[in-house]
Amino acid sequence: MTTLPLPVDLPEAAVNANAQVVLAKRYLMKGPDGSPLEDVRGLFWRVAAAIAAEEAKYGNSPFAPEDLARRFYDLMVGMRFLPNSPTLMNAGTPLGQLAACFVLPVGDSMEEIFDAVKFAALIHKSGGGTGFSFSRLRPKKARVGSTGGVASGPVSFMRIFNTATEQVKQGGTRRGANMGILRVDHPDILEFITCKERENELQNFNISVALTERFMQAVEKGEDYDLIDPRDKAVVGRQSAADVFSLLVRKAWESGDPGIVFIDRINRDNPTPALGEIESTNPCGEQPLLPYEACNLGSVNLAVFHDPAAPDGIDWAGLTETVHLAVRFLDNVIDASRYPLDQITDMVQANRKIGLGLMGFADLLYLLHIPYDSTEALKLAERIMDTIQGESKSASKALAAERGPFPAYPDSIFGKRNLGPYRNATTTTIAPTGTLSIIAGCSSGIEPLFALAFSRHVMDGEKLVEANVHFVNAMKEAGAYSDSLMEEVTRKGSIAHIGMLPDALREVFVTAMDIEPVWHLKMQAAFQKYTDNAVSKTVNLPNDATQDDIREIYRLAYELGCKGVTVYRDGCKAGQVLCTGDGA
Ligand code: CDP
Repeated sequence: MTTLPLPVDLPEAAVNANAQVVLAKRYLMKGPDGSPLEDVRGLFWRVAAAIAAEEAKYGNSPFAPEDLARRFYDLMVGMRFLPNSPTLMNAGTPLGQLAACFVLPVGDSMEEIFDAVKFAALIHKSGGGTGFSFSRLRPKKARVGSTGGVASGPVSFMRIFNTATEQVKQGGTRRGANMGILRVDHPDILEFITCKERENELQNFNISVALTERFMQAVEKGEDYDLIDPRDKAVVGRQSAADVFSLLVRKAWESGDPGIVFIDRINRDNPTPALGEIESTNPCGEQPLLPYEACNLGSVNLAVFHDPAAPDGIDWAGLTETVHLAVRFLDNVIDASRYPLDQITDMVQANRKIGLGLMGFADLLYLLHIPYDSTEALKLAERIMDTIQGESKSASKALAAERGPFPAYPDSIFGKRNLGPYRNATTTTIAPTGTLSIIAGCSSGIEPLFALAFSRHVMDGEKLVEANVHFVNAMKEAGAYSDSLMEEVTRKGSIAHIGMLPDALREVFVTAMDIEPVWHLKMQAAFQKYTDNAVSKTVNLPNDATQDDIREIYRLAYELGCKGVTVYRDGCKAGQVLCTGDGA
């Protein structure tokens, strides 16, 4: 609980009207009658004080708790950095579960399956999302020794998880989110790939197929590959890799599901292989984790670091300082968090993974007048992420000197190669920042804007109308702003086809749909190069994109070192979260 009283001289938070709505509805602590117990300042102070309070137990902290709480407060209200939603909602409250990402093992027995259902329910209740690999489950129709019956297979068990999720609204504030993963060499893989083809099926799941190097090679060579029974690793069949790949592509073309993850690549980057193999990621795919592992995320808002006076328009010193403070913040979150299971507490404490990422990248590009789909933008992406990665590592090293390395360090890849010691097994992850970006009033993650002006459906059918402020300013500066033009932009979302506007504006103010799919992927790869964990990114395709386009994106994702890909073909699924007038 909050240990420091609210100082009277705290600055107000710089939140816009949309952020106010979201914060009031889901983030402010409420009393039994639903009335708020705090205002926005109170929220950020509650979080800052609770996270700073962890400092006291490390006798040699360079910060006094109140001083650090103020620094954390300034970091958040200045919208330079925000921790993931569960931290904002639950820090300093009796619930105290602060991580967004969990992975739970699903073993091949009734006990283990239903344990996982129960554990997932507890995590959803606390605001976290869960990822599972169903690859250990025996295939459909395999014999069940104890009853003499036959097994129903991974997909039918996923439906149980899905139904349980439906019943548990996450802490009353977030709907449960799940990732379901199956290895491509599981005998039930075809059923899995098509398991979401009927509308409303497995709605609380994102699904991804774990592609192995072996499979990718078989696709390239046009060969068959082995299907393996997970229980005894026996080869129980063979099928054409190209056919499976084509089915994957077709389903992704039809509905966006499933995505793919390159599981061997993910395991090559597993920092603690001695603790186990990575089988799954969190729901949105950006955080691969070991079974029973959790991770808290946080994001720097790049738009705030635009500095017109700096030679290249970016306040690098400010960014560096923020990264260092953010790493201390996220490391403290690990200690402040109460996890729903002892196994999770043990695993989290052993690895101390954190995931610092960013949001507001598209805003920064607008401010710098750099088109998203340009080599210059790719170079900037690399430079920014190289900085965040490098500074987060040096911050984690400094924390290790102060507090000791993460306990699993000696057996980790860093320990074995004498790199480090670090305080955290990983430091960087790029999250979607779906809600955080609304709170910060910036573009989400590394995504381009979906539309320059649009209406957004949030919570209970409420509608928020937004126009990008940098776009509006640039239009005004160019003398091109008018109400009728803005109406047209809201209808279309994009200015690509508004011929009366200068080319320079149309090149810079691009939206997701204006950008060639390959640029989406190149951008993902540019950020992945300097990210420990993975990068949340959707490769948007126009409605008339072909299956071959998706095939090419998958091939390129593999070639460019991505850890997975999610594609989305415009209009292929009903009920898009974001919608423009014409497009939806
Ligand atoms: O912006 P916010 O912190 O709310 O979340 P995000 O960056 O959009 O998503 C980060 C992670 O939070 C996801 O990958 C999930 O693991 C989890 N999440 C969830 O469990 N349920 C949701 N409704 C949204 C996110």
